Amino acid sequence: MKTQVAIIGGGPAGLLLSQLLDLHGIESVVLERRSRDYVLSRIRAGVLEQGTVDLLRAAEVGARMDRQGEIHDGVEISWHDERLNIDIKDLTGRGVMVYGQTEVTQDLYTARDARGGTVLHEAEVTGIEGIEGDGVTVHFTHEGEAKTLTADFVAGCDGFHGPSRKAIPESHRQEFERAYPFGWLGLLSETPPAAPELIYAAHDRGFALCSMRSPTLSRYYVQVSLSEKLEDWPAERFWDELRTRIPADVAETLVTGEPLEMSIAPLRSFVSEPMRHGRLFLAGDSAHIVPPTGAKGLNLAASDVYYLHRAFDRFYNHGTSEGLDAYSETALSRVWKCERFSWWMTSMLHDFPETGAFERRMQRAEFEYLQMSETARKSFAENYVGLPY
Ligand code: APR
Ligand code: PHB
Repeated sequence: MKTQVAIIGGGPAGLLLSQLLDLHGIESVVLERRSRDYVLSRIRAGVLEQGTVDLLRAAEVGARMDRQGEIHDGVEISWHDERLNIDIKDLTGRGVMVYGQTEVTQDLYTARDARGGTVLHEAEVTGIEGIEGDGVTVHFTHEGEAKTLTADFVAGCDGFHGPSRKAIPESHRQEFERAYPFGWLGLLSETPPAAPELIYAAHDRGFALCSMRSPTLSRYYVQVSLSEKLEDWPAERFWDELRTRIPADVAETLVTGEPLEMSIAPLRSFVSEPMRHGRLFLAGDSAHIVPPTGAKGLNLAASDVYYLHRAFDRFYNHGTSEGLDAYSETALSRVWKCERFSWWMTSMLHDFPETGAFERRMQRAEFEYLQMSETARKSFAENYVGLPY
């Protein structure tokens, strides 16, 4: 097989890139190691920045999002029973779109099918050759057979555990990491959301989040220690813990139900530099991870893909490699700012088991500063709705 851009990974980053390249007349093949059903069963965050929304519309995959997604003009932060509403629309002129990542991925698959895009499933990449040369060969297994795909370039959209990042020689790669000593236990239920807006709740027992997917589908999280096991969390225990951590008036009216899904995810901040080596370009989780506080993961994948598809467009359609040469620096500049915001929000709202009294007072001071200062709220809102591309 032969194409212009070989894309490893059929998550949101890889699919969106292939769709945008196609719209610019650039060929690609997506190799995805899992089945489509498996990819679509992964439940991830559900808040889209304006820039992501605009990019999905430009990629001609925004119609269902525009019909079914909900625009939110505000977000709440609570501290025990104190509630702080941050009117992000008033502060920035923009809102965010509540629409699940699973739905975004579904819409991307539908669009790739409609345009006859090649997305191979159960196609596991086993090796990448030639990234320092004048063409690349991607080795993969598909339907039990070893196969190859040759291409001008390779886009590594294969998530944190994929092979692309590791194809950059260690001597040319630097990794930065902060692992947090806790995870999020999430629960999805067919119940109306606890409140009209998302509530990020800080509490002495740990962080909690009330989120949603639609007027009838809610998503909740509670911070848990890394040693917690899913089997020790029957739904009733989850609901009790959530009620304890969120403001009492919200807890009183909370509608609970049977979980559709429950899972535990560890929290991590991670960046690998550079995001380009020769003919290999990384995008999304393959290059960076953020903790979910602030829901930046998918949005960062989208901004990478924005820069990368424009760089390929300039290369193939305008004969200049300037965009490709600037890609790593351009993308990383935005990545680090989003890393900072996700790390800051995580630090302010979670219970850190090792933390002493001084740090706890600092967390409280951050909250009080947001309460008293419109400037602080504006800075929060500017980051929450998404920094410009
Ligand atoms: N060969 C082929 N595909 C692979 C391989 C491989 N060797 N290794 C990993 N993959 C696939 C995974 O199966 C996965 O479907 O790459 C895909 C990467 O997708 P995501 O992990 O969703 O990453 P990304 O597309 O960058 O999305 C970024 O979406 O998944 C969330 O948490 C993530 O919110 C973040 C955003
Ligand atoms: C979610 O709805 O899953 C969600 C929302 C906001 C976050 C993280 C997760 O910050």
